[in-house]
Amino acid sequence: MENEKKVLLSGIQPSGELHLGNYLGAIKNWADLSQDFDCYWFMADLHTITVRQVPAELRRRTLTQIATYIACGLDPERNTIFVQSHIPAHAQLGWVLQCYTMFGELSRMTQFKDKSAKHADNINAGLFTYPSLMAADILLYQPDYVPVGADQKQHVEICRDIANRFNGIYGEVFKVPEPYIPKAGARVRSLNQPDTKMSKSLPEGCVFLLEKPEDIMRKFKRAVTDSDRENPVRYDLENKPGVANLMQIYSAVTGKTFETIEREFAGQGYGAFKPAVGEAVIETLRPIREETERLLADKGYLESVYRAGAERAGKIAWRTLSKVYKKVGFLAP
Ligand code: TRP
Repeated sequence: MENEKKVLLSGIQPSGELHLGNYLGAIKNWADLSQDFDCYWFMADLHTITVRQVPAELRRRTLTQIATYIACGLDPERNTIFVQSHIPAHAQLGWVLQCYTMFGELSRMTQFKDKSAKHADNINAGLFTYPSLMAADILLYQPDYVPVGADQKQHVEICRDIANRFNGIYGEVFKVPEPYIPKAGARVRSLNQPDTKMSKSLPEGCVFLLEKPEDIMRKFKRAVTDSDRENPVRYDLENKPGVANLMQIYSAVTGKTFETIEREFAGQGYGAFKPAVGEAVIETLRPIREETERLLADKGYLESVYRAGAERAGKIAWRTLSKVYKKVGFLAP
């Protein structure tokens, strides 16, 4: 039964083009989660403006992101897909929770420290209070689980602290969520700097989901490997991180084990292996790119998806917000 399923929610910032690391590490597995969970996925556009954005680009990326998620298998009939800024309760509860978040706690967040070092000319208050808004995003929907990458675990922790603090004063208002660390999911690293994770800030080592096949192939052909004699395709994360990364990618898109891959390329070297990985990735991404493009041409359909999502999500969010407003002592409107 629908309402017996555990609830799972996650937000994704439409702040960059989605890439192979996002897909193999997260999105690919999300499609399956809707079998077991009541899933909410939202485009965290309110969060993106903590860093300056080009307005038209932000709008385009938000829509493209929705289309890509659907193309990756998130069925809008089984998942609630919405845009954060369409639901005023996020900003409203975000404000309330800022008043239950301590200055000291926020000062200790690693993401704040990193981002304020990176954007030293724009250390705005939103960047600082970001975790309170994220706590609001989560607590509005009373989820059991929040799937996030390792870099966001600290934000789920502070959300739990805020929820517990609030509940301690007013009774059991919020469900205290758990981070959800998926069992499957490959950790994809940069093709030209295999000691760091694949990221849009290193574009030559990053394969974007909607990228042209010839560009994808070029990046794989130039992928960093090593100068091991005879170029053996062998899994050795420590000594051959570039090859290990390519093997992980190949394994994730073909389902082949490392042993099978080693056998397949025995005696052939990197010159044969690299384009084979490129080809397998191109074929995996082709239907995603084509379906994303098809959906983007049908704006009416995409609008119907995010409007239906906002309607479903908005009701739940409003219920939680009303409860909170009452608890803190606001006069009923
Ligand atoms: N902070 C997350 C990120 O940068 C995005 C996010 C915003 C989020 N609100 C959330 C993730 C709520 C999970 C739950 O990746």
